[in-house]
Amino acid sequence: MEGAAELPKDLLSRISSAATEIDRHSDIRVISHYDADGISSAGVICNALLRKGKRFQVTLVKSFDAKVIRSLAAEKPMCLVLADMGSSYLKELASLDSSVIVLDHHTLQGDSEKVIYVTPHIWGIDGMTGCSASAVCMLLAAKMGDDNWSLLPIAFGGIVGDRQHIRGLSGVNAYLLQEGLRRNSIEVQQGSILPHGSLKQSLSSSIDPYIVGVSGNENGAKKLLSEVGVTEDASLEELDESAKRKLASILTLMLLEQGCSLSTLEELTTERYYFPEWKVSASDLASLFNACGRTDHEGIGLGLALRDQRSMEEAAKLRKEYKRSVLASLQKIEGKGLSTMDHLQYFYSDNPSLSGMVCGLTMQYLGHKDKPTIALSIVGESTRISSRATFDILAKGVDLSTGLRDAAAFVGGVGGGHAIASGATIAKGREDDFLRKLNEILGNQKEKKAAIISAK
Ligand code: C5P
Repeated sequence: MEGAAELPKDLLSRISSAATEIDRHSDIRVISHYDADGISSAGVICNALLRKGKRFQVTLVKSFDAKVIRSLAAEKPMCLVLADMGSSYLKELASLDSSVIVLDHHTLQGDSEKVIYVTPHIWGIDGMTGCSASAVCMLLAAKMGDDNWSLLPIAFGGIVGDRQHIRGLSGVNAYLLQEGLRRNSIEVQQGSILPHGSLKQSLSSSIDPYIVGVSGNENGAKKLLSEVGVTEDASLEELDESAKRKLASILTLMLLEQGCSLSTLEELTTERYYFPEWKVSASDLASLFNACGRTDHEGIGLGLALRDQRSMEEAAKLRKEYKRSVLASLQKIEGKGLSTMDHLQYFYSDNPSLSGMVCGLTMQYLGHKDKPTIALSIVGESTRISSRATFDILAKGVDLSTGLRDAAAFVGGVGGGHAIASGATIAKGREDDFLRKLNEILGNQKEKKAAIISAK
């Protein structure tokens, strides 16, 4: 669905059914995911429920599984709204003694007569690139009331938090942009490789991009600034055009020298979305939601989405701490390097909350650009796994969602997610078997794709 001038009628009719169902109840139970898209989804829904005068209880969970379903079966809510999850459990959800609405964007796993199920995949829209869960929730909120279009910044926090914008918006996301532009609530700005504010501070604390020799290294940042001919306490806003161009060129060269791909450089300058009324950009909100979720403070993220002042301040503090921890992990990996297999690279992480983010940044700025990156964290008797790929890697046939699902199942664990970002949980001690199986599966995926290409 290019350009997204219109949305499929059946999608809108399911959204209408969901709005009608919510209207029938005074108490709504909301469950969503703890990551940026999940918090943003819950934020959109809860704001819309508040405006309708509904009572609600919301829980943000790390994963949705049989245990959560058992507790919902005991709780017996009249109306249950699941966001950013639920696709894999439609049958179990249908057996609950509740009205169930699932607003998801993960891979389609069938459909349901009883559950009001919305995932963009049903209508051929890719949930990995063209529709975040928050975008689905935004459609529902807009159906519940035209005034809810003011919640668009929150929904965009989820779109950008899920990195769905990096190759331009499509599908439902593009539809939402179009609506925002029509309502003058959104401004599209050109992205830049240059950091804002105090240059020494922002360069030496930069994680995206991670600049070898500069990130986490104040002396390196000072040296770079002197090469450009600007004082170390200068801020971007004080630089003239020629100094800005020089700094951007040197940064680009440094990143290319450390092996960064052209796609990553393009992503750094991809368009940004700014919401003048809220004086906030989508990437700002995404990083705040992400930091809250990944530091076990998802409630603060939701408070932020509900525009609670104290939550906003707390979230800004959490983001600073989170960024510092990610930077420290990247520096550690830069020092130690990654372990490699034929079709993947991996590292062990002490902190599973940082793994997904560190995985992606490591692959783009430090490791092999052509190998999916896997992070393993041992927590008690389980090992949690995060993995990330790039679009260039996907083009070679890699699908981490099926890869992690099948490799995890091989060692008795569970896994899944998106082709480009996926996760799993396995029993502690089975890591080597899991990695060997995953390496084999990824090799097979690439071979299959190569065979298709050569047969053409
Ligand atoms: O935790 P992380 O951010 O690495 O997860 C990446 C993706 O994998 C998310 O979309 C998450 O919902 C999914 N996932 C999953 N099953 C798991 C773990 C993660 O579907 N056991």
